[in-house]
Amino acid sequence: MSKALTIEKAKGKLGILIPGMGAITTTLIAGVLAVKKNLGKPFGSVSQMQRIRLGKRTEKKTPLIKNFVPLAELNDLVFGGWDIFPDDCYAAAKKAEVLDMNLLEKLKPGLKRIKPLKGVFHRDYVRNLDGNYFKWGNRWKMAEKLIEDIRKFKKENNCQRLVMIWCASTEAYMKQHKTHSSLKNFENGLKKDSRSISPSMIYAYAAIKEGIPFANGSPNLTCDIPALVELAKINKTPIAGKDFKTGQTLLKTIIAPGLKARMLGLQGWFSTNILGNRDGKVLDDLRSFKTKEKSKLSVLEHILQPNLYPELYGKVYHQVKINYYPPSGDNKEAWDNLNVFGWLGYPMQLKINFLCRDSILAAPIVLDLALFLDLAKRAGLYGIQEWLSFYFKSPQVTSGIYPEHDLFIQLTKLKNTLRWMKGQDLITHLGREYYET
Ligand SMILES: NC(=O)c1ccc[n+]([C@@H]2O[C@H](COP(=O)([O-])OP(=O)(O)OC[C@H]3O[C@@H](n4cnc5c(N)ncnc54)[C@H](O)[C@@H]3O)[C@@H](O)[C@H]2O)c1
Repeated sequence: MSKALTIEKAKGKLGILIPGMGAITTTLIAGVLAVKKNLGKPFGSVSQMQRIRLGKRTEKKTPLIKNFVPLAELNDLVFGGWDIFPDDCYAAAKKAEVLDMNLLEKLKPGLKRIKPLKGVFHRDYVRNLDGNYFKWGNRWKMAEKLIEDIRKFKKENNCQRLVMIWCASTEAYMKQHKTHSSLKNFENGLKKDSRSISPSMIYAYAAIKEGIPFANGSPNLTCDIPALVELAKINKTPIAGKDFKTGQTLLKTIIAPGLKARMLGLQGWFSTNILGNRDGKVLDDLRSFKTKEKSKLSVLEHILQPNLYPELYGKVYHQVKINYYPPSGDNKEAWDNLNVFGWLGYPMQLKINFLCRDSILAAPIVLDLALFLDLAKRAGLYGIQEWLSFYFKSPQVTSGIYPEHDLFIQLTKLKNTLRWMKGQDLITHLGREYYET
């Protein structure tokens, strides 16, 4: 057993600050209110529902994760955030049409109380939205204003600690730029109002500058740039990203490792989606879709390792499409067609039709990330938190290594990190001890 880390207690209120108070955010906040009132269960949340095995299988020690590591309690959470529309959370949840009106009515007072602050926004980065509720000024000024918002929120809500999770719209595709290469260049870029700094980067900068853990739920670069990794190290702040792993990609990272484990080959994987919510509308712009497409496409390449298995995965034809189709609302429908081959190259097909609910899958991810990032900070961890890749389509990793996409390896890593924090034996699944006595 290794020595446990010293983890500060989760005392007092934890503020969860969210840029983008749309479908996911309102589903999360309403969900937490509902769970607290015993109107629903936090299904899908690993931090709330999952158990962790400690020691040997014969010891039968499997506490709930939330009882094993000191996580903030749901009763201690306070929500706040920013948007480019002024709707309070009740109005925004109604528009998002994810949750039943019956449930929303029961939660109305709590939801109405949460109103977004004015966001930092520029249409150059999100073409298909034309909100009118945002701050003005150059990028440096915006960062200062966000920092003011953060401090005020902390004081007014009597929070001991804060975390920030980006749940705003996907920004247009952007490559790394010289401005992103160091903190010095980045801060100069903010002062010079450089176009290579997108709004999401300004939020991330403000959070990390304040020592607030930050996670990015969209595929934008955001904190996945050397400048902000540098700042996270200097300010001892945990960061994670990017792009919540829900729906079709979640299934991809469940199925692809299975095919590879059994050495079944793949000729092609065609994925298409119809989606009718605001996210779908944003992704209807090719520049925002490109950011998403990159994130969705990279998954298979890393799982299948065509360089190691050229005969099995050297020529996979992988295509991903998202179509904006308003009648579907938040209830996305995804179709996948897989052309698989087995023994002697005999072909097979697998068809998947996933009628999922995007925000229902994403909300528990935001909750878990907020609680685990807060834990990481209290445990003295900082910089990129790769153990949280479990939640992301394009996990942010340190330079020089490839991201691990296999959901089950990611879960093992997450749980072993929790065991390591608490000084418990890591579980390798070797299991010789059961046969050696
Ligand atoms: N739902 C999923 O399964 C899923 C999975 C992975 C990633 N995501 C990403 O999560 C994000 C949120 O998804 P959603 O379904 O809640 O979308 P949404 O469109 O319902 O909500 C996004 C909100 O962000 C606001 N916004 C846009 N730019 C902003 C800015 N600069 N500052 C503050 N607010 C801003 C919009 O007005 C909107 O209210 C999207 O980027 C989406 O691509 C979602």
